[in-house]
Amino acid sequence: MSAAPADLTPRERLVVALDLPTAREALAMADRLAGRVGMLKVGLELFCAEGPAFVGELQKRAPVFLDLKFHDIPTTVQRALQAVLRLDPRLVNVHAQGGVAMLEAAAEAVRVHRAAGGRTELLAVTVLTSLDQQALAALGHAGRPEDLALAYAKLAREAGCGGVVCSAWEAARIREACGDTFHRLTPGIRPAGAAAQDQARVMTPAQALQQGATWLVVGRPITHAPDPAGAVQAILAEMRP
Ligand code: C5P
Repeated sequence: MSAAPADLTPRERLVVALDLPTAREALAMADRLAGRVGMLKVGLELFCAEGPAFVGELQKRAPVFLDLKFHDIPTTVQRALQAVLRLDPRLVNVHAQGGVAMLEAAAEAVRVHRAAGGRTELLAVTVLTSLDQQALAALGHAGRPEDLALAYAKLAREAGCGGVVCSAWEAARIREACGDTFHRLTPGIRPAGAAAQDQARVMTPAQALQQGATWLVVGRPITHAPDPAGAVQAILAEMRP
């Protein structure tokens, strides 16, 4: 089993979003951050451009969160997961919106992988922060995004997922409803005094931890900093109690 959230160090909790266009730039950034952060996050842009071999190369520097947000029929998601699980990333994710059968198929793929000695944990994306109440209403969802996120988190837990991707603003409610060992990974983190950029509902590292986040995803405040390793040190300092 992985460490309970309460046992993780600030370094282990810090996930850096490598939103960079090429393998060359991503590997150069990984070299600067290796040993200083818990995980590197590879999103769709970089994965589509550089592929699985690149992820293998990156994993020589740090554990990887493969943020591919699968959403398809259960069999397709299960097979796609089986393919990426060969890389043994630290985290993978799927959309909770894919429904309970899809979540169960995904959880089964990860369960089999872990039973064979793999380390991967499965997260479910609750509600994209790009969807506000109006956008959800247009999709046929009544109610507030935070209530839908909580419902999706409960569904993901019942289906066997290890945690969710959610806003730090929802982490406390999800921890209360689903328990501490059901992880909360939260993007939209900004160091105290930093610009929010295009993130709408941000929290500082200390606030997010206080709300019960297991892992914090930070991208541009580190990758666009003149001194990325220095930016990491400052964020880790903010995370220490
Ligand atoms: O640069 P920044 O810290 O805003 O990067 C946050 C990362 O988290 C990006 O890779 C973004 O796509 C991702 N993300 C997010 N909000 C979500 C889900 C993922 O910002 N709800």
